[in-house]
Amino acid sequence: MKSVLIIDDDPLILKTLASHLSRQGFEVRQAETGGKGLAEIESSLPDLVLLDIRLPDLNGLEVLKRISRFTPRPCVLIMTAYDDMKTTVEAIQQGAFEYLVKPLDFVALDLTIQKAVQVKKLEDKVTFLIEEKKKEYTIDNIIGRSPQIREVFKLIGSVASSRANVLIQGESGTGKELVAKAIHYNSPFRDEPFIVINCSAISDTLLESELFGHVKGAFTDAVVETRGKFEIAGKGTLFLDEVGDVSPGLQSKLLRVIETRDFMKVGGEKVLKTEARIIAATNQSLKALIEKEKFREDLYYRLKVVEIDLPPLRERREDIPELVAYLLEKINRELKKNVRKVPEDVMDFLTRLPWKGNVRELENALTRAIILAKTDVVLQENLPLESVDSPIVGRELVSLKEVEKNYIQHVLNMTKGNKTRSCQILQISRPTLDKKIREYKLTVVPPAAA
Ligand SMILES: Nc1ncnc2c1ncn2[C@@H]1O[C@H](COP(=O)(O)OP(=O)(O)OP(=O)(O)O)[C@@H](O)[C@H]1O
Ligand SMILES: [Mg+2]
Repeated sequence: MKSVLIIDDDPLILKTLASHLSRQGFEVRQAETGGKGLAEIESSLPDLVLLDIRLPDLNGLEVLKRISRFTPRPCVLIMTAYDDMKTTVEAIQQGAFEYLVKPLDFVALDLTIQKAVQVKKLEDKVTFLIEEKKKEYTIDNIIGRSPQIREVFKLIGSVASSRANVLIQGESGTGKELVAKAIHYNSPFRDEPFIVINCSAISDTLLESELFGHVKGAFTDAVVETRGKFEIAGKGTLFLDEVGDVSPGLQSKLLRVIETRDFMKVGGEKVLKTEARIIAATNQSLKALIEKEKFREDLYYRLKVVEIDLPPLRERREDIPELVAYLLEKINRELKKNVRKVPEDVMDFLTRLPWKGNVRELENALTRAIILAKTDVVLQENLPLESVDSPIVGRELVSLKEVEKNYIQHVLNMTKGNKTRSCQILQISRPTLDKKIREYKLTVVPPAAA
C-alpha cells in the first residue's frame, strides 16, 4: 500500500497528517471536502483513505458509500470525535476498516495502517484466487460438441441464474462435479461458498453432524460446537455427492430441511435457517433405488427440480479427439511436460476404447502416457491395455463387422502385436489376418515395443 488520500476540512489536520505520512514513505494526496475527495479517488485510485466523518458538503457515510463503488476499493479509515460514535459504528458496518478518535495518536495511526496493509494484501490474494477459480469453472472448460453435451450446456445456462435444486446423474467420471461447479460459478451467487460433501465416504452419524453441525456434548467426541455445511454454504451451493448412499434416516432429515429450510444442530434446540442451493449427484439410478425402497420418492422429486443426465463417454465418441487435445494441454501444463503429438492410429485407438471410467479414465490414461513418454509423442504402448477389457465396445448395439473389428484389435492388443499367436487364437490364416488388419485399419503394436 503506497498511496493515501486524506479527506478532512481542517487544514491543520491535513497538514500535520500529510507530513507524518510522507515521512513514512506514503504518496499523500489531500482533499478538504467530500466532493473533492471522491474526484481525487476517481483520478488517482489511492490504496488507503483517511476519512473525516464530519465534512462540510457531504456526510461521511455518503462519501463512504460512494467509495465502496470503486474497484479496486480503497481501504477506508474513519477519523471521528467521541460524540460521533453512532455514525462511526454505522461506517464500520458499511465496510470501513477501522476508526481513529481525534485528536489522532500517531502511534495508534501507524499500527492501524500496518494492520490495514496486511488485511488488504490478504484480501487481494483472496480476490485473485476466487477469480482464478471462476476461470477454472467457466463453461469453456467443459469440452464436447456432441448433441448430448450441447443439451447439458443448455441446461447449465438456464439453471445457473435460478435457485432451483439440481440433480446430476451420470456414471463415474462423466463430469458431475465439473457441471455442478459450472452451475455455481455461473450463478449470481458465485462469490458465495461452493461446499462439497461426499455422502458415501463417511458414517451416518458423522454425515449428520457434517451436514447440520453439532452442539458441544451432543455425542462422546463432540468436544466443541461446530457449524454444519448447510450453515457454512450461506447463500452458495451445497453439493451432495453420491446422494444415493444417504441412509433412510438421514433422507427424512434432508427432506425436512429442503422443504422447510429449517434445521437443528445435532443435540441442539435452536432452529436455524439455510439459504443454500442444493445440487445433488449420483452414479446410481435413484429410480431403481426407489423401486427397491432404498430411496425416498418424495426426496427424489425435491432434488430433481432440474435434472441433468451426463452421457457416458462411449455414447459421445465424437467428443474424444477434442477431449484428448484439451486434457493433453491440461496434463502437460501440470506436469511441465511437452507430449502433445497423437498419431492418427493412436487417436483412433483412443476413440474405440470402452472408457468405463469415462473422462476421468481417459485423463488417467493420458497422464500415464505422458509420464512414460520419452519423446513428444503419445504412444499406444504407454496407454493402459486393461481398458480394452471388452471386445464388444460399450453397451450400445453394433454391427457384426464392428464386433469383428474390435475383437481382432483386442486380440492384437492382448498378444502385444504377435500375429502368429493372434492367428492361433482367432483360428484364421495369416493372409486373412493381414487382410482384416488392412481392411479395418487395425493397429499392430510391434513386439519390440511391448
Ligand atoms: N466434458 C469434460 N470436459 C473436460 N473435462 C472433463 C469433462 N468431464 C469430466 N472432465 C474431467 O474429468 C474428471 C472427472 O470429472 P468429475 O470429477 O466432475 O466426474 P464425476 O462424475 O464427479 O466422477 P465420480 O462419479 O467419479 O465422482 C475431472 O478431472 C474433470 O475435470
Ligand atoms: Mg464426483
